[in-house]
Amino acid sequence: MAVRILDGKALAGELRAEVAAEVANKRALSNYVPGLGVILVGDDPASRSYVAAKQRACEAVGIYSQEILLPAAAGREEILAAVEQLNQDEQIDGVLVQLPLPDSEIEHEVIESIDPAKDVDGFHPMNVGRLVLGLPTLVPCTPNGILEMLRRSGIVLKGAHVVILGRSRIVGRPLSILLSQKGVDATVTVCHTRTRDFARYTREADIIVAAVGRPHTLSAAMVRPGAVVVDVGVNRIPDATRKTGYRLVGDVEFEEVSAVASAITPVPGGVGPMTIAMLLHNTAMAAARRREGRV
Ligand code: GUN
Repeated sequence: MAVRILDGKALAGELRAEVAAEVANKRALSNYVPGLGVILVGDDPASRSYVAAKQRACEAVGIYSQEILLPAAAGREEILAAVEQLNQDEQIDGVLVQLPLPDSEIEHEVIESIDPAKDVDGFHPMNVGRLVLGLPTLVPCTPNGILEMLRRSGIVLKGAHVVILGRSRIVGRPLSILLSQKGVDATVTVCHTRTRDFARYTREADIIVAAVGRPHTLSAAMVRPGAVVVDVGVNRIPDATRKTGYRLVGDVEFEEVSAVASAITPVPGGVGPMTIAMLLHNTAMAAARRREGRV
């Protein structure tokens, strides 16, 4: 049976159109425009391109966006002051600090300084706590994007065994919480760097999510025929035939895994566009809560 390519770009387009309609509605009925403030520290090329993509997406759906660029050498106080500026700005409903920060030691403190009501990444401990408890909250964009993608593709999660490779706080860990929630009802296994022989688990999986940030991690031999494979990896590998000198690949051996899986997400054009669409969704939701006092 031919593999089904889960087209994140098309699905994200649907979601973005829904957010654009909601933003237009807010403007007409409640007379406000949602705003997103993004802080970028340093000049990591991948982070720069993510932030640029987020800003373009805001513009396309009518969300106001503002960027604060700080040098790689910016200290803790400077970064916290930038967050506070956006926390206090009435035009801003969502605050996002692009990760990783050049100084990873201060990431927790910086994230905790974001107003939880504006935390559109869903990384603040209060929002993570609400997620764990199954309370309404701002849900991290990549895990929520993966869930939305699977739902919109008609892939059944109830009772499915999902094996997640990677326990990061941005993807693996929040995704494991979302999937095991009542109402979603998947059974989840999280594999990580200390898991012995992770193929033992992936071969049992109905759905595999690869989120480790390393090319060639998942091969065909590790996948049960008919499984669904979600590739979260975005890895730059050198490619002299490209103008940029590199190309993007995921964590999955796409060609060989496509021959055994029933459905697979491509890189690029899979999970990435869904993450951005979810950020727009979260920003519109944070705006509605803040300005209209509703969820
Ligand atoms: N770096 C990689 N993914 C993300 C994300 O979803 N949010 C932020 N803030 N930084 C990231």
